[in-house]
Amino acid sequence: MTGRESPCSRPVTGTLRINGRERSISLEPSRSLLEVVRDELGLTGTKYGCGEGVCGACKLLVDGVAVRSCLTPVGEVVGRSVTTIEGLAGDGRLTPIQQAFLDEGAFQCGYCTPGMIVAATALLAQNPQPSEEEILSAMQGNLCRCGGYPRIRAAIRRAARGSSAPPSGDR
Ligand code: FES
Ligand code: FES
Repeated sequence: MTGRESPCSRPVTGTLRINGRERSISLEPSRSLLEVVRDELGLTGTKYGCGEGVCGACKLLVDGVAVRSCLTPVGEVVGRSVTTIEGLAGDGRLTPIQQAFLDEGAFQCGYCTPGMIVAATALLAQNPQPSEEEILSAMQGNLCRCGGYPRIRAAIRRAARGSSAPPSGDR
């Protein structure tokens, strides 16, 4: 820093609790949580899709609630608990929802999958036995360009049932 530099231009740092770890990050009001997670922390499982709050590819959990990180200023989550797709599985074991996505083959290109799994995780944490209408409502903010919606819904139903049965065949 030069002697004439304004204190206001100094980078401000803060601490983010992400995937159970405290991480120091640089805070600029204009930065989105998505930018920080991907570009600064290297957690690239969270995807950039539209950048406008439409597709849901960027969803992650803030205090257990699914949020669109592309629209979330990073300053809003300082001191809160953030979980990305990388932080869902513990001890190398997939969560029931992750396993259900695998069992149902609920992806093609996979680009939407992290956001879908995050949204489904938040849904089932709040409502472990959602109706079909509740699944549709909770997932309507997540877009799949590959059209994998039937398998995605089947995976959510499977996870809700806690089922290890063969795939439902709901295509
Ligand atoms: S990238 Fe955030 S909603 Fe599309
Ligand atoms: S699996 Fe390709 S966008 Fe959903």
